[in-house]
Amino acid sequence: MGLSIEMQLLLVLSLSLIPNFEAQLEVGFYSQRCSPAERIVKDAVRSAVSNDVGLAADLIHMYFHDCFVRGCDGSILIDSNSTNTAEKDFFANKISLRSFGVLDSAKSKLEDMCKGVVSCADILAFAARDAAEMVGGIGWDVPAGRRDGRISLASENLANLPAPTFTVPQLTQLFLSKGLTQEEMVTLSGAHTIGRSHCTSFSNRLFNFSSTSSQDPSLDPRYATQLKSKCPKGNTNTNLVVPMDPLSPTVLDNAYYKNILANRGLFTSDHALLSDPSTSSQVSEYAANVFLWRTKFGAAMVRMGQIGVLTGNAGEIRRNCRAVN
Ligand code: HEM
Ligand SMILES: *[C@@H]1O[C@H](CO)[C@@H](O)[C@H](O)[C@H]1NC(C)=O
Ligand SMILES: *[C@@H]1O[C@H](CO)[C@@H](O)[C@H](O)[C@H]1NC(C)=O
Repeated sequence: MGLSIEMQLLLVLSLSLIPNFEAQLEVGFYSQRCSPAERIVKDAVRSAVSNDVGLAADLIHMYFHDCFVRGCDGSILIDSNSTNTAEKDFFANKISLRSFGVLDSAKSKLEDMCKGVVSCADILAFAARDAAEMVGGIGWDVPAGRRDGRISLASENLANLPAPTFTVPQLTQLFLSKGLTQEEMVTLSGAHTIGRSHCTSFSNRLFNFSSTSSQDPSLDPRYATQLKSKCPKGNTNTNLVVPMDPLSPTVLDNAYYKNILANRGLFTSDHALLSDPSTSSQVSEYAANVFLWRTKFGAAMVRMGQIGVLTGNAGEIRRNCRAVN
């Protein structure tokens, strides 16, 4: 039984009136307000990433941590001061995040051109996209109009970020609590095809099992041996890092899923996507179809970028990304 054209139109219209959280942000938000905004950010990211390709991973990582802790409000960029320990000084952030200067340089140019117009939260959202474009050729339109938060607490990280020892139900639960689906969780985890990890983030897989080798039996033994040679037992040196995808460490591609299928996922949480039947078929699908993953990744990054955003009169446009006004 077909609906009349009128009924179909009515349905489309009424569906488009249902408030959804995507409606708050807008692609091209700065085109009238500060037309060079997206280009200025892209230039800053291009020059930084061409000097140090690792910054691309860092920008994407930083965006994820910004969005999951108190929403995508640029709170990750705020510096600590005498009365407050900010998000960036949470241990795991402190040893890892390092592209603050890239965002500062974009922000200072934008303040010169369009004073008080472009939020730090949006600058980070654009920069993460530009980074993905540079190392993966994956681009997407970034809905913008985020405003900056005034609160940044290191103490809020632990409860809001996934741990590398999480199981699929734990990962799924956390992503659901942020408005993201289990499928999006699997899709976004593909970001682990670039960048690096500190030994401390996966040493639980190398030294804490009752087998003679002491390593996680679900980890490819040859890979485990390589990892042990780079990450000696008991070494807590926070400078020791390994690439998360040894095959193509600087390319944002679907190698993450291929590694997982080969029992070469680095974290317990990466391998869990294969061992849990509710996510394993998605891992195989993405390993086999890079185009599918790329498309889904861009869409999921847009959705992640909507988490807890401040719009309208909420928050502020920070003058300096490192401090509240
Ligand atoms: C699904 C749950 C996730 C867990 C448990 C997790 C965990 C981790 C851990 C432990 C590290 C290594 C940090 C270090 O030792 O320095 C890391 C790195 C990284 N993560 Fe995730 N992550 C998750 C999801 C995501 C998502 C959703 C993104 C982005 C969309 C992301 C992007 C990255 C990137 C790019 C790096 C490399 C950072 C660098 O090279 O400096 N991760 N992640
Ligand atoms: C410290 O930072 C917080 C927010 O990050 C801010 O509200 C507070 O005013 C700052 N305090 C000082 C002394 O600058
Ligand atoms: C080692 O394994 C035990 C038992 O599974 C666990 O309680 C402990 O937290 C683990 N330690 C590390 C460092 O992973």
